[in-house]
Amino acid sequence: MINFFMRKKLLILFFIILAFTIIYLSKRSNEFLNSQSISDSEEKIISAEALISRIDAGRAIYEAKCISCHGEDLKGNKFWNIRKDIDGNNLPPPLNGSGHTWHHSPDQLFNIIKYGLNYFDPNYDGNMRGFNELSDDEIYSTLDFIIFTWPEEIREQYTKKYQ
Ligand code: HEC
Repeated sequence: MINFFMRKKLLILFFIILAFTIIYLSKRSNEFLNSQSISDSEEKIISAEALISRIDAGRAIYEAKCISCHGEDLKGNKFWNIRKDIDGNNLPPPLNGSGHTWHHSPDQLFNIIKYGLNYFDPNYDGNMRGFNELSDDEIYSTLDFIIFTWPEEIREQYTKKYQ
């Protein structure tokens, strides 16, 4: 026969077990959440490292293929928006965020670099020819490098808009 005192003891035992179960479960879920946030930050570090190596690769491509016209600091020609060259063509504009490069979407910039301005205007006869020999990856790295040189505010707005 379970008397009143035994029932009370069983009830107390039940609550003790319940309390331990709750403590155990909440500890496990904290561990789970912590491991989540560690892997989130690990992921961020990995993607930041990948971005840095793309920017480095892009810088090398820029130095090999673009610097001759767009200049060392990506400043373009000083007179890019007020004069033409002797053939009447546009001078190389700045790519460093001081011009209007950031008004173009990443897709447009990709196409300008890959196919040149002919992509948008078949009659284009100016000096921005395409760089078809570059792989898509190389063009995206060059873009990452170009975007990296923009003032922080413009870069943030741009990446937010197109991410
Ligand atoms: C022979 C000179 C020359 C070379 C080399 C060159 N560019 Fe250009 N680029 C120009 C000129 C000139 C323009 C302006 C086009 C026009 O209006 O005719 C231009 C325009 C651009 C634009 C559009 C900019 C904007 O603000 O609208 C981008 C982007 C660009 N170039 C990227 C590159 C990249 C990246 C490379 C190297 C892979 C490169 N260019 C190599 C001459 C050059």
